Amino acid sequence: MTIVRTLGQFIIEKQADFPYAKGELSRLLRDIGIAAKIVNREVNKAGLVDILGELDSTNIQGETQKKLDVYANEQFISALKSGGECCIVVSEENDDYLYIDSEISKNAKYIVAIDPLDGSSNIDVNVAVGTIFSIYRRKSVEGKATLHDVLQNGTEQVAAGYVIYGSSTMLVYTTGKGVNGFTLDPSIGEFCLSHPEMKIPKDGTIYSINEGYYVHFPDGVKKYIKFCQEEDKATKRPYTSRYIGSMVADIHRNMIKGGIFIYPTTSSAPLGKLRLVYECNPIAFIIEQAGGRATTGFTRILELEVTSLHQRSAIFIGSENMVLKAEEFMREYSRLTDDETEARLESLGIIGGID
Ligand code: AHG
Ligand code: MN
Ligand code: MN
Repeated sequence: MTIVRTLGQFIIEKQADFPYAKGELSRLLRDIGIAAKIVNREVNKAGLVDILGELDSTNIQGETQKKLDVYANEQFISALKSGGECCIVVSEENDDYLYIDSEISKNAKYIVAIDPLDGSSNIDVNVAVGTIFSIYRRKSVEGKATLHDVLQNGTEQVAAGYVIYGSSTMLVYTTGKGVNGFTLDPSIGEFCLSHPEMKIPKDGTIYSINEGYYVHFPDGVKKYIKFCQEEDKATKRPYTSRYIGSMVADIHRNMIKGGIFIYPTTSSAPLGKLRLVYECNPIAFIIEQAGGRATTGFTRILELEVTSLHQRSAIFIGSENMVLKAEEFMREYSRLTDDETEARLESLGIIGGID
């Protein structure tokens, strides 16, 4: 008989990897797992909302039906509040960070950054969506944690993970010692270890990018796309194009099959679209831990300086050899000097006003 290991059991077993751990990180991960199950239940019901006539209706407390991304945000925040291990939450859904001011959280050491519902435009059409989270230890040792504690580079992450609400629901996470994936068994309501020690293939044949924006891409990206489309038996080209529009789902597929995901700078989003703190950094940490590579096309994502909560970044991420190849194209066709970059940002009126 195969022995099933639940997420809860696995987290506790792994606590031994950290000799001085007191179980706080384990409890934090457990809390995130619980919130993920609640969000999963609502995501699965999303298609029923119209049938049940809840949309735009008012519930007994006088609240109108919430959008699922707002709902997911509330669930994660509430789990983190009641768990007592987290002092600050940074969320895509909140302009500012949220300080948790409660008796049980007064000694909390951890900061959690979260994209509660990633790919939310796909909800209405029954396409996979996700949650992304990133965990830091606060830098200061006493007093109220502040922005200074929050603005840490990706290399400082102590854990990161994503949940994919897909044909099945999975939670994938790392604490810096490899990546493990758990599939939710709805019959017992538990995440069970299904993908131990996940590794992304070094090479792949899938490229994922929103080609609709082709005209807005830097030359290096345009040339790389053409490279992917050329015929060459030895390198199994042309490659396959796959783009779901939920980063978590595109990354998860590439993690298993091998591939590259690119969201570059574009002429309309000159700093990139995706957010560094709760999208790029956690996913980069996971992919690196699985043996892949994550850069801006030039620089390692995890080493970027974090200067604001909702800062954006370009991202080239996935199978190591594919990302290295795309970087060659960037160096050859899109290398801007620092002065050129500054002039470009100035001409677009966004220097100093980065959000
Ligand atoms: P979110 O739903 O959290 O705002 O994120 C959507 C993101 C990401 O998941 C996806 O890869 C990307 O936006 C898609 O953007 P485009 O529609 O511009 O391709
Ligand atoms: Mn997102
Ligand atoms: Mn989101």
